[in-house]
Amino acid sequence: MITGATRLAGVVGQPISHSMSPILHNAWLAAAGIDGVYVPFAVTPEAFAAFVNGLRGGSVAGLNVTVPFKTQALALADTITDRARLAQAANVLVFQEDGGILADNTDGLGLLAAFAQQAPGFDPAAAPLAILGAGGAARGAAAAFLSAGATDIRVINRTLARAQEIAADLGPAVRAYGLDQAAQAFEGVGALINATSAGLSGSAGLDAPLAATPSTAVVMDMVYKPLITPFLAQARALGRPTVDGLAMLIGQAVPSFAAFYGQTPPPGVDVRTLAKQALGL
Ligand code: ATR
Repeated sequence: MITGATRLAGVVGQPISHSMSPILHNAWLAAAGIDGVYVPFAVTPEAFAAFVNGLRGGSVAGLNVTVPFKTQALALADTITDRARLAQAANVLVFQEDGGILADNTDGLGLLAAFAQQAPGFDPAAAPLAILGAGGAARGAAAAFLSAGATDIRVINRTLARAQEIAADLGPAVRAYGLDQAAQAFEGVGALINATSAGLSGSAGLDAPLAATPSTAVVMDMVYKPLITPFLAQARALGRPTVDGLAMLIGQAVPSFAAFYGQTPPPGVDVRTLAKQALGL
């Protein structure tokens, strides 16, 4: 039931109608008995800044931010957490009562949670890591693995200059490679993460030499639609253990929920099954 005291949060993006986030957050709200609701906001790029600024003061507790607004969201904030600054992107905005906006990034936590859940023996510090892509998602992944103890991160991108920018920003543990050097970069890795947008439903898959990774390398794709991307299917065919993007989505939603509703999601809610049902799986 919606009451006069219902605490509102939501997710903003474009497109937004297929977002899984409302399903996750509302299942947790119901199970926790919180007087809250979580809704999707479809906002155009032209209207984004006015929309966010209009929520200052806390009539809405907070927002998750998704494509294509994560960089713009960071720029509108008054306070920025270290991890959001490192990622140069925000997936969480919290509206404070004094009118301020706090920007955070929980995608890195989601990534680490996905590995912890689906590849429990994985240690980010034990071997080099390869990340495909050099957008905000790749930058956030590199920053998260660095904070988890990684000492050798290889960022591989079609446009080498973008990978070099990440390496320059994050320090000597991060090195840049072009896509043509991928086989070399995959040598000896403990994990390979696809942080490119290739593999999204309707787009062509990524042509990466997966066989160059060690047989024990964990292969992860941040894309969750389809849940098994061409990249993950190729990894599975090679016998590699895999981690999917839905685990990461759920992993970032947990600390987001806590930021909006002041408590961690209640245990025992099988949000993965709910999300899979919504994906038609
Ligand atoms: P985000 O901020 O969500 O990570 P982005 O900045 O658009 O999104 O980055 C998308 C990434 O996917 C980039 O690394 C892009 O490579 P370029 O920097 O060379 O553009 C990568 N990408 C997208 N489609 C690709 C494809 N078909 N093959 C290789 N890389 C691709």
